[in-house]
Amino acid sequence: MAKILIGITSSIAAYKTIELCHLLKKGGHSVKVILTKDANNFVTPISLASFDAEVFNGNKYTDKDVLSHINLARWPDLILIAPLSANTLAKLAGGFADNLLTATILATLKPVYLVPAMNKNMWQNKITQFNIQKLQEYGYKFWGPASGLQACGDNGEGRMIEATEILENINHTLLCDQELFSGKNVVITAGATIEAIDPVRYLSNHSSGKMGYALARAFASHGANVYLISGTTNLDIPNNIKKFIPVTTALEMLNSCIDNITNADIFIGCAAVSDYKINNFTDQKIKKQDTHSLNLVKNPDIIANVKEKNPQLFVVGFAAETQNIVEYAINKIKTKNLDLIVANDVSNNKVFGHDDNEVIIIDKSLNITITMRANKNIIAHQIIERISINS
Ligand SMILES: Cc1cc2nc3c(=O)[nH]c(=O)nc-3n(C[C@H](O)[C@H](O)[C@H](O)COP(=O)(O)O)c2cc1C
Repeated sequence: MAKILIGITSSIAAYKTIELCHLLKKGGHSVKVILTKDANNFVTPISLASFDAEVFNGNKYTDKDVLSHINLARWPDLILIAPLSANTLAKLAGGFADNLLTATILATLKPVYLVPAMNKNMWQNKITQFNIQKLQEYGYKFWGPASGLQACGDNGEGRMIEATEILENINHTLLCDQELFSGKNVVITAGATIEAIDPVRYLSNHSSGKMGYALARAFASHGANVYLISGTTNLDIPNNIKKFIPVTTALEMLNSCIDNITNADIFIGCAAVSDYKINNFTDQKIKKQDTHSLNLVKNPDIIANVKEKNPQLFVVGFAAETQNIVEYAINKIKTKNLDLIVANDVSNNKVFGHDDNEVIIIDKSLNITITMRANKNIIAHQIIERISINS
C-alpha cells in the first residue's frame, strides 16, 4: 500500500478531503496531512487524526522535527494538494516556500497532483490561468476542477472534484507504477480511416483518435510494446511506443493489422473504420452536377478478421452506437467472438473530439462495468485494468 501526503489549503471544499482520508485509510494506505494556517478554519487536526492520519500544522518547524519539510518531502509515494486554493496555487507557481506545505512541495522529487477548488472567477482569472500553465509546464498534474453550482452560489468551473474521483485517480496512478503489461505486445488501431471518392473528396467520420492514443499511452506506461496503427488524427505520436504505423484506408489498416499481430498478445480495435469504400472511384475530379450517386461497397471487418486469423489473441472491440448500446455491443461481442467490448454512446455529439468520455465495458461472460464520465486518459486506465483482469 502507498504512502500519501495530502496538503489541505483554505477552502470550503476541505470537508471532502476528510472523506478522502477516510477512503484512503480504508484502502490500507498511510496518510500524512499538512494543513495551511488558514485551512484550520475549515477542518480541524482532530477530525483528521481520527482517521489515524498524522497531521502537521502550518509552521515550517516543529519542536519534534526541525527538518520536517525535508522529511515530509522524502516520505511519500505521491503528494496531493486537495483542495488547492488560488493563493497556494500562485505561491507554487512562484516557487515560494513560506510555510510547511509550500516548502515541502519545493523540496520534493515525488509526483505532485493538484486538486483545485475556487470560485469560477478566481479560476478563470488570467493570473490563475497563467500560473496553471506554468505549473503544468513544470510537470505538476491537475485533477479537476469540476463545473457546477459553487458554495458562493455561482455556477461554473472551479468546484473541487469528489473524494471518490480523487481516490480513483490515485488508484490509477499507483496502478501505473505496477507495469501490468511488461513485455507484452499490444496492437492498437485508432483514428478515422479515409476512403477517396475522387482525387479531391473523401468519405470519413468524426473520430479524433483521442481514445485510442490514450490507450496507447496507458499501455506504454504499463511496460507494453505498443504498435499503434493510426488513421487520420491531429494528435502527437505518443512517447515510448514501439512502432507507429500511419494508414489511410480500411484496407491498409487491415493489412497493417495482419502484418503486426503475429507476435501480439492483445489487439484493440479502437479506430473508427469506414464500413464502406467507393466502388466507382474516379481518378479525375467529379464535375458538379445536380445529382451524383456514390456506389458504395462494404469494407472488410478488421476486428472480425483479426480474431479469425489469430483465435488465441485477446481481442478488444469498440462499439460506437447512438441507440440500443448494450444490446448492439453484446451482439457484436458474440458474432465477432471478441474477448471484451467497450461500448460508447456517441449520440448528440457526446464523444467525438471531446477530452472526456464514459463507456460500458462488457466481457465474454457478459459482466458489465459502467464508468463515470472522466478524461479519456482515466477511462483508458480503467479499460486496461479490466483487460488485465480478463486476459
Ligand atoms: C469562507 C471562505 C471560503 C473560501 N474558499 C476558498 C476557495 O474555495 N478557494 C480559494 O482559492 N480561496 C478560498 N478562500 C480564500 C482563502 O481562504 C484565502 O485566499 C487564504 O489566504 C488561502 O490561504 P492558503 O492557501 O494558505 O490556505 C475562502 C475564504 C473564505 C473566508
